Amino acid sequence: MGMPNLHQQYIDGEWTDSDGETFTSENPATGDTLGEFQRATTQEVNEAVAAADNAFEEWRSLSRIDRAEYLWDIYHELRDRHQELGEAVTRECGKEISEGKADVTEAWHMVEWAAGDARHPKGDVVPSEIPAKDAYMRRNPRGVTACITPWNFPVAIPFWHMAVALVEGNTVVWKPAEQTPLCGQIIAEMFDDIGVPDGVFNLLQGHGDAGAAMVEDDRVDTVLFTGSAEVGHQIAETVAADSSKRAACEMGGKNAVVVTDEADLDIAVHAAVMSSFKTTGQRCVSSERLVVHTDVYDEFKQRFVEVAERVAVGDPLDESTFMGPLVEDAHVEKVTSYNDLARTEAVDVLVDRTELPDEEIPDGHENGHWVGPFVYEADPDEPLRCTHEEVFGPHVALLEYEGDIERAVEIQNDTDYGLAGAIVSEDYRQINYYRDHAEVGLAYANLPCIGAEVQLPFGGVKKSGNGYPSAREVIEAVTDRTAWTVNNGEGIEMAQGLSADINTRDD
Ligand code: UN1
Repeated sequence: MGMPNLHQQYIDGEWTDSDGETFTSENPATGDTLGEFQRATTQEVNEAVAAADNAFEEWRSLSRIDRAEYLWDIYHELRDRHQELGEAVTRECGKEISEGKADVTEAWHMVEWAAGDARHPKGDVVPSEIPAKDAYMRRNPRGVTACITPWNFPVAIPFWHMAVALVEGNTVVWKPAEQTPLCGQIIAEMFDDIGVPDGVFNLLQGHGDAGAAMVEDDRVDTVLFTGSAEVGHQIAETVAADSSKRAACEMGGKNAVVVTDEADLDIAVHAAVMSSFKTTGQRCVSSERLVVHTDVYDEFKQRFVEVAERVAVGDPLDESTFMGPLVEDAHVEKVTSYNDLARTEAVDVLVDRTELPDEEIPDGHENGHWVGPFVYEADPDEPLRCTHEEVFGPHVALLEYEGDIERAVEIQNDTDYGLAGAIVSEDYRQINYYRDHAEVGLAYANLPCIGAEVQLPFGGVKKSGNGYPSAREVIEAVTDRTAWTVNNGEGIEMAQGLSADINTRDD
């Protein structure tokens, strides 16, 4: 196979050269170049989709258990190469090393879930009104699955999409984010090494144009997308025009942690710091709003601010770092401009580490994309952009509320998004009210709003998702159900009292 300096596409079991443009992958902590990649052309998108389409009939004819065997090989590769791949994640997307390694762990958990699921019962046996009828729910694979994945979980999220899709009998064309092509390359090498049948797995490296060409291709049956709301809504709209196609889109959030008057403040501060600053705020489940009851507000604020002032930003390969850099320069610009916007919206700024002083930047990392925490207080009733738009960075609003849990949940729900959220409280009635009324797909009590396990349905409501959760329940997106009824009787008998008699003119 070889490891070319200029990385290629992986189409129909071959590493192929493009004559198109190239792009580079950059280490966000240092600015160093990690690799050069060819950018897939429309022709290559076409070839990859054709390969996946041709491979489909044979792949679907294998048993789930035989398909899962290929995934078990991937599982072992991911485990054996944990350290190496975890470091690659950290080098390429800037997450600190425990997060880089957790990304790989989450990937093998997903593979384990999907491959293990192959041996579990499938579908339901459904009763019939007619004793002679047996009814079953069965699933069929839909066909070619286009997977478009983000840079912030460059190993885990691709496997959220691909593991179940493949075990269920679909073939895959995958485009990783243009910021993390090296992780994509390593994963494609794994599929090549384990000998996945030609065309079952295809890798296309490139930008949004390649993704758009995948989405538009008639031979693509399902699109799985995780990423920005802007792109996700565009994809959902394009796909909606073709009723035979399906898109499952997971997008961002403006997630909140609610801290009530009954909160344990040790847990509240810990959960809030984790929710807001882990991954430098670059999880779609990260929290940019802390909704805090007035009775505990001053103490919470003082303790949260103290940590935000001191939280360690630095070399993500160093285990004592808490926050690595942002992913790229354009993102530093975006986060900085939202911090500026907050100032112009006249909020009260409590912590401003937007520009870190030189002594905080580790040697050799002067070209990294550094931004520290930005914390402010704002009025929850003001229609501010900074408290309603997703920033995707360590940009956090403290929103003080008075009154009961209904009021806290009203503020929590005052957003177009609905991905993740948490409540911190020792009162089960408050927790239960939140559980029943918070408009979120992933909810937590006395925990951060990050860190979902793969055996949960991962998905949001409102602008955060279009109804097909990822991880475990991606199965709903990549299969069609057949309600299958068999008659064991000698004649035909219908349900609902429907007459089965055929009356003729002679009757
Ligand atoms: C994301 O936020 O982009 O729940 C994905 C979590 C991880 C996945 C996050 N399992 O935090």
